[in-house]
Amino acid sequence: MGRIAGIDLGTTFSALAVLNEMGRPETVPNSDGERITPSTVFFAEDGVVLVGEEAVNAASSEPEKGARWVKRFMGLDSFPEEVNGKKWSPAELSSFVLRKLKEDCSAQVGEITDVVITVPAYFDEVRRKATMDAGRLAGLNVVGIINEPTAAALYYATQYSVGGRILVFDLGGGTFDVTLMDVNGRQVDILCSRGDHQLGGVDFDGAILKTMEKVYKDETGGNLVTDDESRARLMVEAEAIKKTLSKRPSASALLYGDSGQCKFKVTRDRFEESISPLMARIGMLVEDVLDEAETEPEEVSSVLLVGGSTRLPIVQKRLEKIFGSPPASAVNVDECVALGAAIHAGLRLMDESPSKVDAGVASGLKDIGLQEVCSHCYGTLAMSRDDKTERDILVNDVLIKKNTPIPCKVSRTFYTAAQGQTSVDARVTQHSTASTDADIVNVVAFGSLQLPPGRPAGQPVKVTYSYDADQRMHCVFEDEGTGKKLVLDIDTQAGSMSGSDVEKKARELEGYSLE
Ligand SMILES: Nc1ncnc2c1ncn2[C@@H]1O[C@H](COP(=O)(O)OP(=O)(O)OP(=O)(O)O)[C@@H](O)[C@H]1O
Ligand SMILES: [Mg+2]
Repeated sequence: MGRIAGIDLGTTFSALAVLNEMGRPETVPNSDGERITPSTVFFAEDGVVLVGEEAVNAASSEPEKGARWVKRFMGLDSFPEEVNGKKWSPAELSSFVLRKLKEDCSAQVGEITDVVITVPAYFDEVRRKATMDAGRLAGLNVVGIINEPTAAALYYATQYSVGGRILVFDLGGGTFDVTLMDVNGRQVDILCSRGDHQLGGVDFDGAILKTMEKVYKDETGGNLVTDDESRARLMVEAEAIKKTLSKRPSASALLYGDSGQCKFKVTRDRFEESISPLMARIGMLVEDVLDEAETEPEEVSSVLLVGGSTRLPIVQKRLEKIFGSPPASAVNVDECVALGAAIHAGLRLMDESPSKVDAGVASGLKDIGLQEVCSHCYGTLAMSRDDKTERDILVNDVLIKKNTPIPCKVSRTFYTAAQGQTSVDARVTQHSTASTDADIVNVVAFGSLQLPPGRPAGQPVKVTYSYDADQRMHCVFEDEGTGKKLVLDIDTQAGSMSGSDVEKKARELEGYSLE
């Protein structure tokens, strides 16, 4: 039987874990023996693609052939820059990272059959679907998607004895997520999440680079960053300086710019000051999540750390200030997400195709329960009478509220407004709050339901939204009179690919070989 796996597809690093014969998750090292693999892709000659440390090194001298931090753009039609002279979608670029993990795993512990890939809790539908596409493009059978903090909590709740109200604080390379949950034995109930998918280690590296540029300018009058190549090289140096500052009070380097060489020394204090706006944002999101769950800091029984950037001393200090005691020293900040995803993959298969799960694996997963919630509000745009002006205005009518336990299904009936109306504009909206303001919500899917002519106004149109366990939405607009339906699946919207597109693209990408 093939292996059941979980993959943490990170902005800067990715990891893969499989379930062993007893249903316990284990990290599989890559072909270099490393437990995490840089999520960097580099196009070498003749259709050869490098992924990982080698790609990071190669991309620092030829940045135009490399792609880093691809996850920041997941869900967009294309990566912002051409890579190796070609436009790529973020899903295509990420598929190389996933293929590398898959091939390294096959070589070491056996072929992977089914996999769950992780996403930040705050990822919307389009980004989730693009992540699934990336997996399929890599030839993986993606049985589900799970939120990164949830995966981490599943791991800690089942392999260590954490319990009570838990806050998972996940600060990685590119994204920040904070999630509150209740853990009772092996049952994990998610309460709510907040996050920012543009806040992570890369921004701290950027802050160090800014300081380097300023010092260089003050000392030499010249410019440190002269082109893309020097920027790529300096970001790698900035990251190394940042890591040194997690251990020591200061760090030094020699800088080379267009006005020669200059000595650079930075203290931890100066670095911490330079990232204080980012830390303020993080603090605010933590407070928001506590407010949303009406939880006082002292009611949180432990704070679990996830992600490499939680090694920054200022992060731990800030959490200690909020919660009054230091965060639980997390055992495995780099791997817990992949490990939890492997558990989730096992649970999904036990639900959907139990014959694919060995008895030993199944008994290891016994009694594990997970209750997720949806991370946004979903609604539709409809006309409504404004009491003040006595005019009809377009409003957002929320069907599924944020933090509703999932899977869930909600129906509401609307009525046609005009005599002889032959179509209804169907719009699915998504927003972080239950706002009724049609101008601020994001329309994530749209279509037109055609109606037969010649009917009076007031024809019922039933709108049903169902939210599946992968946190993806399926929407049906039904003309009750005729039973005619318009199905809006967010899969079919811009930024994502249809099944046959994926197959075609996957075959095209197979033309590249990974080294
Ligand atoms: N000792 C350290 N001090 C500060 N930062 C560190 C340290 N070690 C690793 N990091 C940072 O952690 C980040 C990587 O963390 P991680 O692997 O959890 O992120 P990721 O999973 O790639 O990103 P994301 O979860 O945001 O998609 C990098 O920005 C790295 O520089
Ligand atoms: Mg991560």
